[in-house]
Amino acid sequence: MRIVLGIESSCDETAAALVTDDRRILAQAIASQEEAHAPYGGVVPEIAARAHAERLAPLIEKVLDEAEVTLDQCDAIAATAGPGLIGGVMVGLVTAKALAMAGDKPLLAINHLEGHALSPRLADETLEYPYALLLVSGGHCQILRVEGVGRYRRLATTIDDALGEAFDKTAKILGLGYPGGPAVERLAAQGDAKAVRLPRPLRGSAEPHFSFAGLKSAVLRAHESGDHRAEDIAASFQQAAVDCILDRLEKALAGMGDVSALVVAGGVAANRTIRTALEGLAARHGLRFTAPPLPLCTDNAAMIAWAGIEKLQAGADADPLDVSARPRWPL
Ligand code: KG4
Ligand code: ZN
Repeated sequence: MRIVLGIESSCDETAAALVTDDRRILAQAIASQEEAHAPYGGVVPEIAARAHAERLAPLIEKVLDEAEVTLDQCDAIAATAGPGLIGGVMVGLVTAKALAMAGDKPLLAINHLEGHALSPRLADETLEYPYALLLVSGGHCQILRVEGVGRYRRLATTIDDALGEAFDKTAKILGLGYPGGPAVERLAAQGDAKAVRLPRPLRGSAEPHFSFAGLKSAVLRAHESGDHRAEDIAASFQQAAVDCILDRLEKALAGMGDVSALVVAGGVAANRTIRTALEGLAARHGLRFTAPPLPLCTDNAAMIAWAGIEKLQAGADADPLDVSARPRWPL
């Protein structure tokens, strides 16, 4: 049995986890910085980096203690090496380097997006390559064909904002606080999704890319006009987002070739309306639909450890100790 220690620090969650190659999460700990960033309505990179530096080492100690595993029993140390806020990524990566050096263990520098992309297989051992993945979070908005470890075909990305970012900005406009996704979803449940006319950016365009900046501006105009109730704006915004996702995914699936399932991951996968719409789309295409449980959808370290395990299983080499932290790192 292999055990990998995973470390995640690319945004506003500090996390550590121990995962085995038979898909058991032996222990995991996560420290959210929501409260620290809430007054600013978004993540402040400097505050995030400082918080990671304070919290990470005790979290690692905690998961090792809880699982009663020693550093020596770990087969590798896997850490997010990008993409993300560079200060935070450096804290996690340098910590992993120190542990790898001290324990004479292989270091695995993991692409955070690869962590998200492979996380469904940690939750579901029956999920086979290749599968279609909609990755929607605060920082990412992509459609991928996940073909194997290190083999990702990106069919679409956003040309401006990520979907979670659009939810967060809508929440800010409507005065709902940060993070905004869950608050917008709650308010939308009380509103009329047809009440406010909002654009569906890029709908029908040839490439399956996303764009949400125009939608956000339209939300701002609708709010400033004073003509609409906040719950109607929230519901109409959410419906516009769903329509965009379905249209873009239809386009992507048409050019993707065979896949075993449609999978959604990332924080926005928590949204019930979006999940239900995706289930319907999958059914229309005769595809299985699956989403990892929520704690594996949002940023976490178990997905980083799991990506490390999949890399080990695929025979990947350890990364050198001078590997760089990368603010940008497309899959
Ligand atoms: O994956 P995640 O935790 O962090 C990033 O990698 O960005 O995703 C956080 C994002 C935030 O933008 C948040 O507003 C959004 O996911 N989110 C939601 C919901 N829950 C979280 N968006 C829509 N509906 C939700 N229920
Ligand atoms: Zn993420």
